Amino acid sequence: MKLAFGPEINNAELGMSKHVYVTTAIDYVNGQPHLGHAYEKVITDVIARGKRSLGHPTFFLTGVDEHGQKIQQSAGAAGLDSQSYCDRLEKNWRDFCDRLQLSHNDFVRTSEHRHEAIVKAILNKLYAKGHFYFSEYHGFYSTRQETFLAERDRNPDGSFDPMYGEVMELTEENYYFRLREHQDWLIDYIEAHPEFIRPENRRNEVLGLLKNNTLEDLCISRPISRLTWGIPLPFDTNFITYVWFDALVNYISIPAAYGDPVIIEALEGAEPTPPAANPDFETWPADVHVIGKDILKFHAVYWPIMLKALDLPQPKQILVHGWWQKEGQKLSKSTGNIVDPIEVIDDWGLDAFRYYLVRELDIGPDGNWTDDSFAGHYHADLANGLGNLMNRSLSMLKRYRKGVVPDRSDELKEEAETVIAKTRALLEAYEIQQAVFIVWSFITRVNQYIDQTAPYKLAKDPEQAQRLDEILYNLVESCRLLAILIWPFIPNSATRMLEQLALEQKPDTLAQLQWGDLEPGHEVGQASPLFPRRDQARKQRA
Ligand code: MSP
Repeated sequence: MKLAFGPEINNAELGMSKHVYVTTAIDYVNGQPHLGHAYEKVITDVIARGKRSLGHPTFFLTGVDEHGQKIQQSAGAAGLDSQSYCDRLEKNWRDFCDRLQLSHNDFVRTSEHRHEAIVKAILNKLYAKGHFYFSEYHGFYSTRQETFLAERDRNPDGSFDPMYGEVMELTEENYYFRLREHQDWLIDYIEAHPEFIRPENRRNEVLGLLKNNTLEDLCISRPISRLTWGIPLPFDTNFITYVWFDALVNYISIPAAYGDPVIIEALEGAEPTPPAANPDFETWPADVHVIGKDILKFHAVYWPIMLKALDLPQPKQILVHGWWQKEGQKLSKSTGNIVDPIEVIDDWGLDAFRYYLVRELDIGPDGNWTDDSFAGHYHADLANGLGNLMNRSLSMLKRYRKGVVPDRSDELKEEAETVIAKTRALLEAYEIQQAVFIVWSFITRVNQYIDQTAPYKLAKDPEQAQRLDEILYNLVESCRLLAILIWPFIPNSATRMLEQLALEQKPDTLAQLQWGDLEPGHEVGQASPLFPRRDQARKQRA
């Protein structure tokens, strides 16, 4: 079985019990990758790497959403058939994932056969079980949002919000999914599972929506006269599957393609016949679906009902992040208020970008990118914080002890092990911003330790040789621990630190990390700046 593991991912072995399964939303293939997409992908990558480093086999899925009227229209406007249009665009997204150094195990395209086959099997199964009915609809439709609109969606003056784009009035026959009968069950489920939707305010939002409204049944088809680009309903090929129904299924279609036994069992007897079960590939239920706040209803209402109708267990968590702005304004291409992730990465390096995204914004609230705060954190936390600590520690060991690690000393052991324990717990709970704060509090502490113990002064006094040895051991051992602690967030820097320390150790080994494994007598390599200061370089150039 071939999985697209990143080159440094070595512990996501198959053939073990249930994998941790993490997903991002799948992006509309015709969109332009921007800061918001980068954020969602990076935080999910940090979660996935964190889990792997904690020793859990992990399956991380991302990809693109390719069907629907919008894409059919854009393809037409570009003079291409829809498939060729998507083939051309999906590469942008794969390249984007590579630039972010995502450690995803697979990349789904909804136009792939392996996805389409499972969507059809699911549709057949639900149809046979009586979850769908056929009916006429008269009303309004927004192509931009790929959704039907109700009277309550109108503004007081009768118009529709510009976010819906062009709204058309239509009368159509379609297939509907009976959602209404699931309303009470879903409310009870969400109330009984406080971890199901996080953060709390998003959970309350969904509960409020379910308690104060009657759920409308969901239209799951579009007539072929209006939409051809998508998955035909297997039981009535005059209709194409609604793009959101198709897209949500990606979370189970890809595991099913590998033979996830839980999903395969739920699809037993369905047509087309799903792949054979593979007991070594158990991912479902997903541990966490990471999504943005705008697509909450699809994931916290429609998706759980689809799964319930299929007799599949619910994902353990839907983790909802906020939206980014820049300099206090909405991101907008037309006003030029954008952050181009690739430009930032080219200019400052990938780790600086990944660090800022995680450090600046907790998963939940909206965030605000400012160029000043980006540069400020680069200098304070990365250049002066981590980079300086590593540089000072290695340089002093080189200068005073020819780079050879002295005897073990445990002065910082207790503090380091507290940080390790807290980081582990925070990563397990997807509290990645808090984890960054804890790791950086240790960096600050060790930098202070240098200032307080002043090894550069002790080095001048031969009588202080033993004290100097102790300090140097504590510094270099702290650097080794930090390399492992930072790997989920800034993997390149972790690898570079281990290289400079001349250690063969793997960076994704937080599960085994403990104080004191650095061997006395080991010779470290050469320090070289991890995060060169940019303000001085600018001053010198000026
Ligand atoms: N294709 C659907 C998702 C289907 S999932 C089964 C979609 N695609 S999208 O390209 O519009 O958005 C993908 C993700 O990017 C969503 O989770 C969305 O919230 C996120 N973001 C888009 N703009 C964003 C910001 N400005 N800030 C943060 N995240 C944002 O919706």
